Amino acid sequence: MNKKEVREFIVVENKRLNKTNSLIRIKSQAELPKIMPGQFLNIDISNCKEIFLRRPFSVFEVDYANNIISILVKVLGRGSATLADIGTGEKLSAVFPLGKGFTMPDSNDKILLIGGGSGTAPMLFLAKESGLTPENVHILLGARSENDHIDISDYQQYGLIHYSTDDGSLGEKGFVTQHSVFQHNLKNFDKIYACGPDAMMKAVAKVAKEKNIFCEVSLENLMACGFGVCLCCIEPTTRGNLCVCTEGPVFNINELKWQI
Ligand SMILES: Cc1cc2nc3c(=O)[nH]c(=O)nc-3n(C[C@H](O)[C@H](O)[C@H](O)COP(=O)(O)OP(=O)(O)OC[C@H]3O[C@@H](n4cnc5c(N)ncnc54)[C@H](O)[C@@H]3O)c2cc1C
Ligand code: FES
Repeated sequence: MNKKEVREFIVVENKRLNKTNSLIRIKSQAELPKIMPGQFLNIDISNCKEIFLRRPFSVFEVDYANNIISILVKVLGRGSATLADIGTGEKLSAVFPLGKGFTMPDSNDKILLIGGGSGTAPMLFLAKESGLTPENVHILLGARSENDHIDISDYQQYGLIHYSTDDGSLGEKGFVTQHSVFQHNLKNFDKIYACGPDAMMKAVAKVAKEKNIFCEVSLENLMACGFGVCLCCIEPTTRGNLCVCTEGPVFNINELKWQI
């Protein structure tokens, strides 16, 4: 596992993607360690006086040649709102790389990546890093409506993209678990990976378990320290109560004591 460290970055880009999502690129002076899909940074929101604790954000992309990490920020509360407003040239402190990433697929696997809300970032990073041919990577993204989805047309080179929206304004109407790829083609996949709201991950996990398909989920439990000290991110598992920040955020569904 790579060593975690506190590092100062400079914001080199902050692009508003839609009403609630921003893409932020941060540059380090020093070389970046290898970062796995599913790993995250714990970011100091120091320019917000009311926020004392760092906030966790998944790594979305890594440009090793230029020492740049990208994150996707969905505004939820004060911390994410302040981060989404950060200016180019500002400094940003982050503890990274944190957590354990996804089990990488085998070279002949066909995989389904399911993302909802802030869970989009690790799914797209995994699609890019999987090394699989695009026909073997299906990316299924769910949101309330078209305006909540971000433009990910660049990712067509890494996989087939499917959308679902609650109101039917983009892709198929309904939840990701009601999408035709999930309903009718699940048996074609060797591995399923998911990140998003708990209800979505539990619905995905229930079906994957019934059909005995390998499935990993990336949990977004509330966190504080990000490195196993405060115990605020505990998840009950078959290995006991584990810190999501150090033993996760990625777990195989068979390890989780979810009532699914
Ligand atoms: C491992 C990990 C990776 C993450 N990756 C991303 C990412 O790539 N992009 C992204 O936009 N967000 C991501 N998140 C979620 C992000 O950390 C939270 O949205 C952020 O911390 C909220 O801080 P805030 O100050 O804006 O909200 P707060 O003011 O702290 O909270 C606002 C409201 O949101 C709720 N809330 C806060 N955090 C979470 C959470 N983790 N899950 C559900 N509800 C929450 C609070 O209970 C409260 O009701 C990730 C979380 C984890 C644990
Ligand atoms: S966030 Fe402190 S132990 Fe996990």
